[in-house]
Amino acid sequence: MSKTTFVRDITGNQHEVNDLFVVTKKGTYTAKNNTKYMMVGLKDATGSIDGRIWERVDELEGLFEKGDIVSVRSKARLYQDRLQLHITDIRKLDADLAVCDIAHFYPCGDKERSLLQEEYAAIVKEIKNPHLKELLNTFTGDRQLLDRYFSYPASTSVHHVYVGGLLEHSLSVAKLGMAAASLIGGDRDIIVTGCILHDIGKVHELDILRGFRFTDRGRLLGHITLGVMILEDLIRRTDGFPQDLTDILTHIVVSHHGLEEWGSPKKPMFPEAIIVHHLDNLDSKVMGVREHMKDNMADERWSDYHRLYEAKYYKITSE
Ligand SMILES: [Fe+2]
Ligand SMILES: [Fe+2]
Repeated sequence: MSKTTFVRDITGNQHEVNDLFVVTKKGTYTAKNNTKYMMVGLKDATGSIDGRIWERVDELEGLFEKGDIVSVRSKARLYQDRLQLHITDIRKLDADLAVCDIAHFYPCGDKERSLLQEEYAAIVKEIKNPHLKELLNTFTGDRQLLDRYFSYPASTSVHHVYVGGLLEHSLSVAKLGMAAASLIGGDRDIIVTGCILHDIGKVHELDILRGFRFTDRGRLLGHITLGVMILEDLIRRTDGFPQDLTDILTHIVVSHHGLEEWGSPKKPMFPEAIIVHHLDNLDSKVMGVREHMKDNMADERWSDYHRLYEAKYYKITSE
């Protein structure tokens, strides 16, 4: 089932809406007349809409959860001046979406995705170390892996939470890495390859083909371990990749969070790994704060408290 009706297209009373959406809220309540009903929040890339379920509540309640992509049968109606869906059937999609359909459900980043992909190709082209070049060619040739790398968000809630966010974040860290290599030194090719692949485990840690959340593997293993597994597999498929370079790249993936309490079992142990760690932290934090400030301002100057970063943020306004 491909998506044809978007939230922005829904208008007026009795407009039939039979399509796919992401569930953002789900709650069961009892009305004054003692009947059970459900309130459901639905969204796609173009907006959000509320829905109500009045019939077959017990049956439909078990067929979906918050975060699922669901197939909905409903009619749109105006209720207290707001559009609402009167839902008669709703159930979790029982197959994965195609990667190319993700953009129907999640916001896109500001940067044009095709330009980011061109930028990726240009960065890979500039790698001179023949082994790293070959490894990145193996990666680029793995269409399934690359499609996910090009489309996934970098996280479900913290930073670069949009289609293509993982690619944008990885490229941004790679470009910072090039600048760092020329300003403070280090092996440019190792830094850039490390930056490109540091978060690759996220393509298995996150599930965005049936929802927008962590996979069971992601919860159990995390993107660092999953990243090491993907890297090992890519290296196995790359002829003659040396052991020392294997350990160096694996260490960059393993140590990129910097500290044990941030999820890295090893601290960065050579300058290139220290560079990747700090630049990753810089890019993810700055973008995370910007994204937080976009939707969570307490007033004109100060944001709400950011639970992960444990701070409120100040908006500079030029007079
Ligand atoms: Fe990471
Ligand atoms: Fe990262």
